[in-house]
Amino acid sequence: MSTLPQDRTKATYGLQWNRFRILRPEEDRVTFFNRTGLEPDDLDRAIVLDAGCGMGRYLRVAGGAGARVIGLDLSEATRAARSLTSDLSDVLILRGDLLRPPIAPGSIDHIYSIGVLDHTPDPRAAFLALARLLKPGGRVAIWIYRRERPLLERIINAHRAISTRLPLGLLLPLCRLMAPIGGLKRRLLHSKNRAVSRLGVALNVLTIGVSMHPDPEVRVCDTLDWYAPKYMSRHTYEEVAGWFAEAGLIDVVDLSKRQVYFHEGQGNGINLAGRRPPLG
Ligand SMILES: C[S@@+](CC[C@H](N)C(=O)[O-])C[C@H]1O[C@@H](n2cnc3c(N)ncnc32)[C@H](O)[C@@H]1O
Repeated sequence: MSTLPQDRTKATYGLQWNRFRILRPEEDRVTFFNRTGLEPDDLDRAIVLDAGCGMGRYLRVAGGAGARVIGLDLSEATRAARSLTSDLSDVLILRGDLLRPPIAPGSIDHIYSIGVLDHTPDPRAAFLALARLLKPGGRVAIWIYRRERPLLERIINAHRAISTRLPLGLLLPLCRLMAPIGGLKRRLLHSKNRAVSRLGVALNVLTIGVSMHPDPEVRVCDTLDWYAPKYMSRHTYEEVAGWFAEAGLIDVVDLSKRQVYFHEGQGNGINLAGRRPPLG
């Protein structure tokens, strides 16, 4: 049976976000404001697009701060997002592809896209498509994976060459089996004994995709998120800054410099924001 390029993306995230509807309101709020660089006042009555909203954890933060939010996602995650935001009046959920967004150009005040562009077949094209949706003076913030050192890149690619070919029905229980390794890594890395913490570093290199999140259920979800999707590209700062320049955006800021981490292993990301020049 032939498959389309984004079929695995749809299957992965349809499963992931309906199986793991995990809200962590305090962590989600801090992560949202860190990675968007927005202030609560920026959101009040603003038209906001969450590009690749998943189950909608950040829609809840933006909608709760008074924004009129559109959540766009390719997968059946939209089902989870709809149910998670059903108590918020100004949230619209759309199922669609951000490479061909079903939204009028020049209509959005703030766009954010957290951990999404790197899961598309063409992150640069996806970014340029998003930038076109901004109103003059509108702002976009993105977070995507950072390219790792060559050794780590080789390990990641070798693991994912296998894992992305496994059926999700097998990969999910495997992630459940691997999740305790994440807990072990946390304990080793926290050790005051240098030899033990070095062991933690080595184990982390070998099992880089196994999440160390303190909550065991989130660990399973995050581990699936790493091993399952067909597309998971990593990028350099220069490459992503080049996309912002190509889109003609100004006031570009590197938000990764001011991150507050809730726990280790939250993901090594490139996090930039920029603005479309205002008219006149
Ligand atoms: C890692 S999840 C992140 C979800 C959400 N931003 C969050 O942080 O909770 C990536 C999401 O991007 C969505 N996605 C991937 N490719 C997409 C595309 N071409 N158009 C729209 N959404 C896409 C997936 O369906 C998935 O829900």
